[in-house]
Amino acid sequence: MKITAPFLLLIFMLLQQTVLADNEESQGKHLYKTFCSSCHGLGGGMDMGQRVAPPIAAVRFHYIGVYPDKTSFVTAITNWVEKQDENKSLMRGAIRRFNIMPPISVSKQDTQKIASYIYAGDIEKPPGFDEHVKEMHGSH
Ligand code: HEC
Repeated sequence: MKITAPFLLLIFMLLQQTVLADNEESQGKHLYKTFCSSCHGLGGGMDMGQRVAPPIAAVRFHYIGVYPDKTSFVTAITNWVEKQDENKSLMRGAIRRFNIMPPISVSKQDTQKIASYIYAGDIEKPPGFDEHVKEMHGSH
């Protein structure tokens, strides 16, 4: 294959996009730790009586089922964090158990980064989460 300038430019652009996406997700991870993990993190494990909110992996599971592509996933999560609207909830059982999520003071831009990070899926899961999903929802 002949390596031409447009070809090199294309490779460069593809690499740059990967780096940008990586950046967004690593910033998102940091922001998630700051704004969300105190409630959605590992504390309490899979014992819902010990938790204050569902694990973030459970939130991802419910949202990805309804919003499988990144754009609609990020929009849905961002809308929720901006305004907790019970009518748009995908986790009514969690609202009954924990009460509705309180408003969180975080910018829209930062929430979008957090949502991209959650979408990418490299997130914390309490031990036993995967087994729980298989038991509760089947392994389809
Ligand atoms: C003070 C505790 C707390 C913090 C901090 C918190 N949440 Fe929540 N969140 C909850 C609780 C409790 C629920 C379950 C009840 C509900 O769905 O409203 C929940 C549910 C959710 C849901 C599912 C909503 C639904 O019902 O469909 C999303 C999405 C979510 N949180 C995202 C986030 C994100 C992103 C952050 C960080 C910016 C965050 N939360 C920070 C307590 C919290």
